[in-house]
Amino acid sequence: MFDHKKTPVFTAMQEYRDRKVIPFDVPGHKHGRGLKEYKDYFGDAMLELDVNSMKPLDFLGNPIGVIKDAEALLADAFGADHGYFIVNGTSFAVQVMIMAAVRSGDKIILPRNVHKSAINALILCGALPVYMEPEIDEEMGVSHNITLESLEKAYTAHPDAKAVFIINPTYYGAVCDLKAVVEYCHSRDMLVLVDEAHGTHFHFNDSFPLSGMQAGADVSAVSLHKTGGSLTQSSALLVNDRVIDGHYVRKVINLMQTTSPSYLLMGSLDVARKQLALHGEAMLDHIIEVAEYARKKINEIPGCYAIGRESIGNPGIFNFDPTKLSVTTRNMGLNGMELYDLLRDEYNIQMETGDIFNSLAILSLGDDYDHVDALIDALTDIQSKFHGERIEYKKIDLHYPEVVLTPREAFYAEKDVVLLEDTAGRISGESLMSYPPGIPVVSYGELINASVIEQIKLFKSSHGIITGMEDPEANTIKVIK
Ligand SMILES: Cc1ncc(COP(=O)(O)O)c(C=O)c1O
Repeated sequence: MFDHKKTPVFTAMQEYRDRKVIPFDVPGHKHGRGLKEYKDYFGDAMLELDVNSMKPLDFLGNPIGVIKDAEALLADAFGADHGYFIVNGTSFAVQVMIMAAVRSGDKIILPRNVHKSAINALILCGALPVYMEPEIDEEMGVSHNITLESLEKAYTAHPDAKAVFIINPTYYGAVCDLKAVVEYCHSRDMLVLVDEAHGTHFHFNDSFPLSGMQAGADVSAVSLHKTGGSLTQSSALLVNDRVIDGHYVRKVINLMQTTSPSYLLMGSLDVARKQLALHGEAMLDHIIEVAEYARKKINEIPGCYAIGRESIGNPGIFNFDPTKLSVTTRNMGLNGMELYDLLRDEYNIQMETGDIFNSLAILSLGDDYDHVDALIDALTDIQSKFHGERIEYKKIDLHYPEVVLTPREAFYAEKDVVLLEDTAGRISGESLMSYPPGIPVVSYGELINASVIEQIKLFKSSHGIITGMEDPEANTIKVIK
C-alpha cells in the first residue's frame, strides 16, 4: 500500500539542507555563495538545494534510495507498473518511449500532427514512419485527433508495423477512442505509445477522457510540468510492463539523460505527484467549473468561439478536454497570433499559443475565476474596438507524399539547396510544417512532388505560415544529394 502523503525526494532534500553540509562537490556555486546576485534574488533555499547526486539523495540513473521510492509512488499514482522521473522535458520522454519500442528499420504508425520530438526520435533510432491522417477542422483551421478508421487504413497497408503512437489529447483538447485503439493494436501485436504532454491531469478526475494507463497503453509520456503542477522541464515516463521491460526502458533513458539531474526539478515532481494523488480530483473539479464558466462567457462575445464538449462526435473528437480553452476569432477578422500578441502587450495576459485563427489558454491547477474574468474582459474590450471581416483562406487539399527514406537516413544524408520550383522528384532533407492546420506538408525522407510545391506556394501566397526549414522564406529547400 502506497502512502501518497510521503515525498521521499523532497523530504531528503530538506534533511540535507538542515545538515548544513560543507560542499566539496559540484555545483561550484556551493549553495549559492559563488552566485550571490542569484541567491539574493531567489532566496537561500533554492540555491542551497541546487545540489548534485549523493547517497542520501540517491542517483537518478540507478536509483536505490529516495528516488526509487518516489518513482514507485509516481507509478502507483498514475496506475503504471513503472514510473521514471525525467528532467529533460517531455521531448525526452517521447524520445525514450519511441526508442524503447522500435529499432532501426521497424515501422511505427503515428499521426502526422505529432510533436517534433517524435520525428526527432525516429532520426535517433532509425525507425520508419507510417502516417495516419488526423481529422481537419476547417472552421478552426487545426487538426484534431485520429479515428480508428485511419489507424485501420495505416495498419492494413503496413501490417508489419511494431507500434502505434497516439496523442492524448491534442493541443486543442481532442482525443481519440484510446481504449478501442489499444484493443485493436494489442490484438495485432503492436505496442501503444501515448504522448500525454497535455493530458497529465486525465488520470486524476473521471470527468476527463481516459489516461493512457487507464486505457491499457504500454508507455506514456506525461508532462507533469505542463498540467501537473511541477517545475518546467520536469516530466515523467510511465510503463505498463505487459510487454515492455522496465530495465530496458531505464537503459534507454540512461543513454541520453544527464548524470547531473536537478533536485529542484525532481523534488517538484515528488510534491506534484503527492498533490495530484491526494487533492487532484477536487482541484480539477474546480478547474473544469472555471473553464466551463469562461467558455460560456466567451461564446457570448460576438465573433468569438470557444470549442467545447458540444464538439464531441465531430471528426477526430471522440472526447474532449474542457481545460483547453481556445478562442477562435476569425469571424472577428482577428488572426489568432495577433490576438495572442494583443492580449500580452495590451492586457498583460499570456496565452499558451496563437495560430492563424485561434489563441489557446490552458487552464490548470493554479487557475481561478480571477484569471478567466481578466481574459473575458479583455476579449470583450477587443471585440468592442475591432471590426474586421471574417478571415478566409484558400483551402488546400493536403495529400501526403511517399516516404522513401527513414528520417534518420534523410537527416544524415548529404544535401543540396535547391529552388522550391526545382525540387519535384527530390527527397526532402527537412520538414516543412504548415499552419493551418499544423501538419508537415513534407517531412524528412519524403519524395517531393508537384503537389507539395504547389501547396507550399499556396501557403506562402495566402494567410498560411510555414516553419521548420533553414530558409525562412522557403524559396529554397534542402534535398538529398
Ligand atoms: C504534444 C507534445 N508532445 C511533446 C511535447 C514536448 O514537451 P516538452 O516541451 O516538455 O519537451 C510538447 C510540447 O509542447 C507537445 O505539445
